[in-house]
Amino acid sequence: MKIAVVGATGLVGTKMIQILEERNFPITEFIPVASEKSIGKEVSFKGKKYNVVGLQTAIDSRPEIALFSAGGSTSIEWAPKFAEAGITVIDNSSAWRMDVTKKLIVPEINANELTETDKIIANPNCSTIQMVVALNPLHKKYKIKRIVVSTYQSVTGTGVKAVEQLMNERKGIKGEMAYAYTIDLNVIPQIDAFTDNGYTKEEMKMVNETKKIMGDNTIRVTATTVRVPVMGGHSESVNVEFENEFELEEIRNILQASSGVTLIDDIKNFKYPMPMLAHDKDDVFVGRLRRDETQDKTLNMWIVSDNLRKGAATNAVQIAEYLVEKKLV
Ligand SMILES: NC(=O)c1ccc[n+]([C@@H]2O[C@H](COP(=O)([O-])OP(=O)(O)OC[C@H]3O[C@@H](n4cnc5c(N)ncnc54)[C@H](OP(=O)(O)O)[C@@H]3O)[C@@H](O)[C@H]2O)c1
Repeated sequence: MKIAVVGATGLVGTKMIQILEERNFPITEFIPVASEKSIGKEVSFKGKKYNVVGLQTAIDSRPEIALFSAGGSTSIEWAPKFAEAGITVIDNSSAWRMDVTKKLIVPEINANELTETDKIIANPNCSTIQMVVALNPLHKKYKIKRIVVSTYQSVTGTGVKAVEQLMNERKGIKGEMAYAYTIDLNVIPQIDAFTDNGYTKEEMKMVNETKKIMGDNTIRVTATTVRVPVMGGHSESVNVEFENEFELEEIRNILQASSGVTLIDDIKNFKYPMPMLAHDKDDVFVGRLRRDETQDKTLNMWIVSDNLRKGAATNAVQIAEYLVEKKLV
């Protein structure tokens, strides 16, 4: 199988390459792709060096699958060209997620929607993926009415430049700014642009993508998304109201049995999920489970995951694995 990684020099692209290696994805030809400025740069894959090529060269090599993580405008312009050439695109940007003709896939939840005719497949937003992986098994059992989520998102979610900004600030170096404000020793309650309703695009992604992935438009979601000076992953405080009554012990059992979820909920020993524990791991970590004592049938939980892994690269590679396994490419 020929695989192109578009955005191979970026944070998500680099992680995709690492994950393709780790999972021993069946690759016969590896094609790293980035912007004009990176053409010719060397990228390693399984101990061999490859030169970065441009997008048209990648199409001409006719890979079966192209994993895209090169921003929305690159996806809008180039994903259809890849698709027309018969290449299946798995796209990490927000370009196609809410397009009614495109599937928005989290393999644990809805990979079975995929068919051979899906040539552009959308990978959801990182904050949404980790939340729905933890919530979908509970939705199936108790039916979710409403979700109130606040996020604490890692700078790695913004890409290479944001990590550099934080590191520069920590060393007292004046460098390029990925954010409008200092991020070190600060918290920025804005992720992506504001929309007309006063929410940010990131917040509206969580609202809309959750319903699409879980296939239920009746779920009400309200979100506040916040950038924090953290590296290992995104954290989320989630308050979820169910239609049906639950037992905490049963919730624990369901989460423990759920694919892609690890429960760390041992307050007696001060054990709960944290970005430093989730860093470079594939699972979604859940803890701090407790009843909302102000409202019936309502649960508070804390969800942490490495946004570069399950929030982006791992999810995309899992989609690719599913396509290969089901012979859809
Ligand atoms: N970071 C996350 O946690 C996360 C999670 C989910 C989704 N995503 C999405 O994944 C994408 C990449 O994010 P990132 O964090 O990896 O960003 P990043 O570190 O800034 O990397 C961006 C990558 O895109 C390439 N690129 C930029 N413009 C291009 C163009 N015109 N043609 C070809 N390649 C181009 C860059 O190549 P050069 O090095 O040549 O500039 C680089 O390889 C974004 O769409 C982002 O929204 C990110």
